[in-house]
Amino acid sequence: MTDATNQSLFERARSVIPGGVNSPVRAFGSVGGTPYFVARAEGPFVYDVEGRRYIDYVQSYGPSILGHAHPDVTAAVQAAAANGTSYGAPTENEVRIAEEMTRRVDGLEMVRLVSSGTEATMSAIRLARGTTGRDRIVKFAGNYHGHSDSLLVAGGSGIAQQGLVGSAGVTEGAVADTVVAPYNVVPDIDDTVAVVIVEPIAANMGLIEPQPGFLEGLRTACDAAGALLLFDEVITGFRLCRGGAAEWFGVRPDVWCFGKVIGGGLPMGAFGASREIMANLAPLGDVYQAGTLSGNPLATAAGLAQLDNLTPSAYDRLTATATRLQEGMTAAFAEAGVAAVVPRVGPLLGLFFAATAPTDFDSAKAICENGMYERFFHGMLEAGVALAPGAYEAIFPSLAHTPAEIDATVDAVASVAATLPTRP
Ligand SMILES: Cc1ncc(COP(=O)(O)O)c(C=O)c1O
Repeated sequence: MTDATNQSLFERARSVIPGGVNSPVRAFGSVGGTPYFVARAEGPFVYDVEGRRYIDYVQSYGPSILGHAHPDVTAAVQAAAANGTSYGAPTENEVRIAEEMTRRVDGLEMVRLVSSGTEATMSAIRLARGTTGRDRIVKFAGNYHGHSDSLLVAGGSGIAQQGLVGSAGVTEGAVADTVVAPYNVVPDIDDTVAVVIVEPIAANMGLIEPQPGFLEGLRTACDAAGALLLFDEVITGFRLCRGGAAEWFGVRPDVWCFGKVIGGGLPMGAFGASREIMANLAPLGDVYQAGTLSGNPLATAAGLAQLDNLTPSAYDRLTATATRLQEGMTAAFAEAGVAAVVPRVGPLLGLFFAATAPTDFDSAKAICENGMYERFFHGMLEAGVALAPGAYEAIFPSLAHTPAEIDATVDAVASVAATLPTRP
């Protein structure tokens, strides 16, 4: 054990780690204050180094769908670790998880495992360019696809929280072939476009649903131009439902990217497509992609244990949990006279302090920057509920959250909402 406090650790961290964190959204930069340093986590709870317990809706930004330290995941990782942590040679579990993923997602015939969502989207873009022989890519403002250079423009999540349009260090050349379009509007796509990459539900500028016809329109426009359609399902994949957003909306992309849930909280991502497209990838084809830790035995063991628990009834339960939270929060804000909407798609939740939900990045930004979230966030943290320290992130209930935690959260929302400015 340690006698360190959150404050003392943050001070030490800041002298050896930029901003004291290894990923910018953790720094509390946009909400102010000192981050809590996690000592351990179990089920729906995280415990900080000072012994405070929080009902956790960060859940590692999505991977921990079963809740923290699920016994099946922990046992699988322990057993795998005892057999060695990395080999540089293929394993049976890589085959098993690829088979399981392709069974769950219609049209997904082959996958390549990588170590993060960023690697998945970066590699999938290269594959799309190599497959089509075209250079340009289209992405949507406020969608976040990780931090590879060509995708680091008009991103949501931490980039938006820092008020950046892109990143220093990304050359003009690296983004010269990236076209940014507004979310929820089908852009013009011509025969110079290799791929259109989209979050089928935008979950990095709060939670924004695709408007009816948007994803279908992208499919039609890509087909007409001979461009590939890529669904970035790093958040939606294996969380929304068994087959992810492609199944949910009935629109099949050409290429999928995954991360978060499939690694069970260990570093793993994946991208995949039809056999025909994936045949362009090395060693079969001439699009190069590789990784020392790809298909890591701890990550595949954790991912398989997690997927085993993700049965159709588990998704029903998770959706019921999210619905209870949505309804409770909505009623609590209404009772307090606070203008807030809690959008929900299946088990995915968001929160906007406004009378109506936004539909694109510009409208989301105006709401996320209105100063309400920071106050709400700190009130909730004080009340023992951990939300993401940034207005652009989604809310992640897990399968470990029981009605008792949801109701305690709603009670906290009611008392914090009573301290917030009411609608005019
Ligand atoms: C939709 C989406 N794509 C890609 C990424 C990048 O994944 P990672 O942080 O694992 O690199 C994220 C991360 O939040 C994401 O939400």
